[in-house]
Amino acid sequence: MDKQEKELLALAPQEEPARQYYFIEAIRRKLLEERPAGAPGPSCCVVTFGCQMNARDSEKILGILQKAGFQETQQEQQADLVLFNTCTVRENANEHLYGRLGRLKRSKKEHPERIIAICGCMMQEADEVEKVQQKYPYVDLIFGTHNLYRFAELLFELLIRREEETARRARERRVVEVLPAADRIVEELPNSRKYPFKQGVNISFGCNNFCTYCIVPYVRGRERSRRSDDILAEIRQLASEGVVEVMLLGQNVNSYGNDNPEEISFPELLRRVCRIDGIRRVRFMTSHPKDLSDELIQVMAEEPKICRHLHLPMQSGSTEILKAMNRRYTKEGYLSLVEKIRSRIPDMSLTTDIIVGFPGETEEDFQDTLDVVRKARFDSAFTFIYSKRTGTPAAAMENQVPEDVVKDRFDRLLQTVEGISKEESGRDTGKTLEVLVEGPDEGREGWLTGRLSNNILVHFPGDQALIGKLAMVKLLSSKGFYYLGELE
Ligand code: 5AD
Ligand code: SF4
Repeated sequence: MDKQEKELLALAPQEEPARQYYFIEAIRRKLLEERPAGAPGPSCCVVTFGCQMNARDSEKILGILQKAGFQETQQEQQADLVLFNTCTVRENANEHLYGRLGRLKRSKKEHPERIIAICGCMMQEADEVEKVQQKYPYVDLIFGTHNLYRFAELLFELLIRREEETARRARERRVVEVLPAADRIVEELPNSRKYPFKQGVNISFGCNNFCTYCIVPYVRGRERSRRSDDILAEIRQLASEGVVEVMLLGQNVNSYGNDNPEEISFPELLRRVCRIDGIRRVRFMTSHPKDLSDELIQVMAEEPKICRHLHLPMQSGSTEILKAMNRRYTKEGYLSLVEKIRSRIPDMSLTTDIIVGFPGETEEDFQDTLDVVRKARFDSAFTFIYSKRTGTPAAAMENQVPEDVVKDRFDRLLQTVEGISKEESGRDTGKTLEVLVEGPDEGREGWLTGRLSNNILVHFPGDQALIGKLAMVKLLSSKGFYYLGELE
């Protein structure tokens, strides 16, 4: 580190996010110095695995990179900086990362100046961080979910170390910082928005539920709600920039505010979001059935801006298995909740998550799952084979179900789910409904793609000027998971 850089570090503000903006500027200057005047900035490719939370985090990461002078690219094999934002909810998510990392080995050897970074849930697991460090020496930067806000500072540190230690091996100049828990929520980081008209908004981070199969509470930490004033200010700002649809994000949105006695409840937060001028549609994800209150159903019924889609993960239909999963509801409880929602809001589209092969699951338990699927008639369901996650209580359970039995149940479940989904998804054929136009239809020249309030896609002929707007579209025919329509 030269004298000037030491001075730079000493001058960094202590408070956040000012400190990170300071490092963003420091990176920007450094990159400018290294390039001929007027040349485009280095390229970056941010690869996201997993859920909407990760997608939202990647927008923050990309926002930081772009502000520091990087240009986004999708060319993973050529980018000057590649960052993997990882997921670890099931084992195959981990395998996916290692496959992608392996494929970068050669190009990194040919271009050692490229930066390879990994962050996200998988990096909150000590074993995985160890494995990356041992087997993938060409990874330059590792950080976790709790210190994402420090990305600019960590990247700056890496750039400095690289200059200092060019003679040393990559693994010695690697920057690794993983924190065991979140120390704060840092507001107002830069943001790179994917769509000008819709945006995900975090309302809480982490989870307190400890479902026995799930690794999320270990890698994302305890539930922390953002202040409602901050959430509402962010949404007002988004509305002023032209956003018409927001998706409120939390591992369990229904317990929003439970960690702070002074905070408003989730239904009240929804009411206030709906009052914001310019916001036309409000979605949220994900709802734990045990915390879904009558007040929430009431708000959904009353507020036309709240989309007619509820994702309500059931996980299993067997009361015994639900108990072993620590889900804290029964088969009957789940079904009566579905019944209550359907009777108050008949046009509500319900989707769910289901796990097959949880330890101890018998054929009878599985039949209960099929029974709930048939009774609840989900519009669609994400079906998962149980995946053993080290450190969770279920991983230590002895009665794991044999692979072939699980596979057979999985196939039967999929068949049932898909059959119902096919029957349900065409039920609005012939109606004219409001669509948020999201973009051109990839396959058809002169056509557009949009989304109904219940989240189903509609393709129809139309002018690109409609993108980002709400339009009335007549649904002419159902194609299973989408409709073909025409503008009214
Ligand atoms: N195995 C299989 N599926 C899982 N999920 C969470 N943990 C596991 C696991 N260990 C599923 C749940 C959850 C969704 C996001 O992922 O169904 O709702
Ligand atoms: Fe995992 Fe259960 Fe929390 Fe969902 S509610 S993130 S399944 S522990």
